[in-house]
Amino acid sequence: MKNPLFISFEGLEGSGKSTQVGLLASRLREEKKEIVVVREPGGTRIGELIRDITNGRQNVDLTAVSESYLMAASRAQLVREIIKPALKNGKIVIADRFIDSSLAYQGYGRDLGEETIWKLNNLAIDKVIPSVTFFLDVTPKIGFARRNETVKIDRLDLQQQDFYERVYNGYKILPEKYKERIIVIDSSKSIEEVSQKIWSIIKEKF
Ligand code: TMP
Repeated sequence: MKNPLFISFEGLEGSGKSTQVGLLASRLREEKKEIVVVREPGGTRIGELIRDITNGRQNVDLTAVSESYLMAASRAQLVREIIKPALKNGKIVIADRFIDSSLAYQGYGRDLGEETIWKLNNLAIDKVIPSVTFFLDVTPKIGFARRNETVKIDRLDLQQQDFYERVYNGYKILPEKYKERIIVIDSSKSIEEVSQKIWSIIKEKF
């Protein structure tokens, strides 16, 4: 793995992203790779403050545009503070969500459009694009059934079902557009099967 490697994970709530991020990081560490794991929104001090706003249940008055800028601001901070320096130092970066979350949630879910979200994020990402993105594909129904068993409900969980249908629809469109980067993984399978699949792709590609 000579080139900087930036891996992102995407998917709906309950798609198993965080579990798979953890499993992949462990496997790479076993291979003595230096890994940096980040999440969005968050991952930096400022980013975590932003996350408190975007995920705060009380913030129902947050507009779609403000939400988009906050996600981009958190990303701008993360790219400059953590991701770019890590890649420069030859580390592997694994991100639990990145630009595609904004495209899916704000672009499609909030109907702001993909182009608008790209424009708003260009400065934030500063040309940093993942080498590979795993879209963990579970339907909103499966995702929510799983999530309700495990975690506390945040502001975005309170959205209407049609919002998540639009987000999911966006997530299905993105891999067709960015074929060279986004890989769709059937995440309704077992944790072990999904992690094995991801590992085989990483080994083959990198
Ligand atoms: P999670 O990381 O626990 O899934 O929570 C993050 C929430 O923020 C999730 O509902 C997705 C949402 N989100 C966006 O709407 N746009 C973004 O760009 C990002 C990174 C997250």
